[in-house]
Amino acid sequence: MTAELIDGNALSKQLRQDVAARAAALRARGTTPGLAVVLVGDNPASQVYVRNKVKACEDSGLHSVLEKYNADLSEADLLARVDALNHDPAIHGILVQLPLPAHIDAQKVIEAISPAKDVDGFHIASAGALMTGAPGFWPCTPYGCMKMLESIGYDLRGKHAVVIGRSNIVGKPMALMLLQKNATVTICHSGTKDLKAMTLQADVIVAAVGKRNVLTADMVKPGAVVLDVGMNRDDAGKLCGDVDFDGVKAVASHLTPVPGGVGPMTITMLLVNTMEAAERSASS
Ligand code: GUN
Repeated sequence: MTAELIDGNALSKQLRQDVAARAAALRARGTTPGLAVVLVGDNPASQVYVRNKVKACEDSGLHSVLEKYNADLSEADLLARVDALNHDPAIHGILVQLPLPAHIDAQKVIEAISPAKDVDGFHIASAGALMTGAPGFWPCTPYGCMKMLESIGYDLRGKHAVVIGRSNIVGKPMALMLLQKNATVTICHSGTKDLKAMTLQADVIVAAVGKRNVLTADMVKPGAVVLDVGMNRDDAGKLCGDVDFDGVKAVASHLTPVPGGVGPMTITMLLVNTMEAAERSASS
C-alpha cells in the first residue's frame, strides 16, 4: 500500500477561501474581523510565526495588529496590554506568541485573555469548554488535524485513535476532540511502556512529540491513518516530522507530509477561530 497524502496546503487554501467569504460578508455588515498578535522579545522562530499569522490575516481580509515589545517588558505591562485589547472593539481575537521571556508567567498572561477572544484556545475556560463539549475555541493545531480527517471523509465512530504526546497545546486537546467524535482514544507519552503495542492497534495515529522517527513502519497497522504534527530537522538540516515518512508511507492508507501537512492548517484554524469570534461578537 502507498498512502494517500493529505495536502495541508490545498485544504488550507479551501478553508481560507471560506474565511475570506465570511470576512467579506461581515465587513458588509460593518464589522471587520480583527486579530491582535503580541510578540515579546526577539525569538527568531516566533518572529517568523507571527509574520506568517499577520500575512495570513491580510490575505483573507481580516484586520490584524502586530504588537512587538522588547524582551524586558514587565509582566504587569503585558497584562495591561492584554486588558486593553480585551476592551478594544476592533479586536476579536488575541494571540500572545509563546514562548514568553522567563520572567513572565505565561499561564497568567493566557488566563488574562478574555475567553471570548481566546482564538488560540489556550485559556483554561477554553480547555474546560472542550472537555465538556460546550462552545469555545479549540486549539488550532489539533483542530486542524480534525479538519484533515474530515477532508478524507473519515468516520471516527468506534475507531481506535492513538495520540502520541500529551501537551496542553496538542496531545490532550487532540484526544478530547477524537473522543467527541466517538473514537476510542489512547494517549501515549514518555512513560508508556510499550508504544509499539499501542500504535499497532490504532486505526488513527497522531504523532505530536517533537522528536524524529517516533513512529516507524513496523509500528503501524496496514491501512491506518497517520497525522504527523512534528516539526524537526534531520541530519542534513531538512525539515521533517515525528514520523519516518518513507517507511510509514508504504503501510498507512493516509499520511500527512512535513512540510505541507498539519503546519499550514494551524494558521488556517487561527483564521477560522478569529472569524468565529468576530461573528459571535457581531451577533451578540
Ligand atoms: N508558539 C508556537 N506555536 C504557537 C501557537 O500556536 N500559539 C501561540 N500563542 N504561540 C505559539
